[in-house]
Amino acid sequence: MDTLSSMLIFANLLLLFSTFCNTADTLTLSQSLSDGGTRTLVSKDGSFELGFFSPGSSRNRYVGIWYKNIPIRTVVWVANRKNPINDSSGFLMIDNTGNFVLVSNNNSTVVWSSNLTKAAQSGMGELLDSGNLCLRDEKDADSGIYLWQSFDYPSDTLLPGMKLGWDLRTGLDRRLSAWKSPDDPSPGDFTWGTQLQINP
Ligand SMILES: *[C@@H]1O[C@H](CO)[C@@H](O)[C@H](O)[C@H]1NC(C)=O
Ligand SMILES: *[C@@H]1O[C@H](CO)[C@@H](O)[C@H](O)[C@H]1NC(C)=O
Ligand SMILES: *[C@@H]1O[C@H](CO)[C@@H](O)[C@H](O)[C@H]1NC(C)=O
Ligand SMILES: *[C@@H]1O[C@H](CO)[C@@H](O)[C@H](O)[C@H]1NC(C)=O
Repeated sequence: MDTLSSMLIFANLLLLFSTFCNTADTLTLSQSLSDGGTRTLVSKDGSFELGFFSPGSSRNRYVGIWYKNIPIRTVVWVANRKNPINDSSGFLMIDNTGNFVLVSNNNSTVVWSSNLTKAAQSGMGELLDSGNLCLRDEKDADSGIYLWQSFDYPSDTLLPGMKLGWDLRTGLDRRLSAWKSPDDPSPGDFTWGTQLQINP
């Protein structure tokens, strides 16, 4: 084999390797997504991607989920809707309590958290093919048991498989709320959900 073709093969292998490294659908205790880095989470079937973004003409940074295959970025969920990061110091990770945490400011400010008190021994995050970001105990992988899921905290988009309304068991009131503006994903004036009728 001549040098050129072995170099080409080597370059291809490198490319393949970096593709694998940059796209995973899971986040574990020892990993993090950084705003400065190129790594994102991509669902197994390639439909959804999770990463850092700035909406519209805003320079604020948010963590969100969007369709990977739609060229005009269409965001379906935002983690830190009400708490933008004003620089690129953001890190999304699983902390030692087993929660998702989004930190900024040299890792000293918690901007957003999945905020579970009942922690997983070994938390693992996964972006599912449905666009649902879920958190589970690593020992429950592939079991369908989630400790936390983004589908319980909708933004402005109803995706197939998502439920709205009250979950009487957990007391969650799941409703959609519009963005304030294309530049600002914080909850705007309109929400959509169900009203629970309490009889006197
Ligand atoms: C960015 O936010 C941090 C706290 O979250 C604040 O201390 C800092 O002054 C802000 N910087 C700018 C340029 O607004
Ligand atoms: C960031 O944190 C590290 C370790 O805690 C500290 O040494 C460093 O001075 C901090 N940098 C800034 C800009 O606050
Ligand atoms: C913040 O935390 C991430 C993930 O643990 C780490 O890679 C990074 O170096 C930390 N940054 C600072 C400034 O400590
Ligand atoms: C976490 O939960 C506590 C108690 O429910 C609440 O007071 C706090 O604001 C929550 N923090 C975040 C970051 O959502």
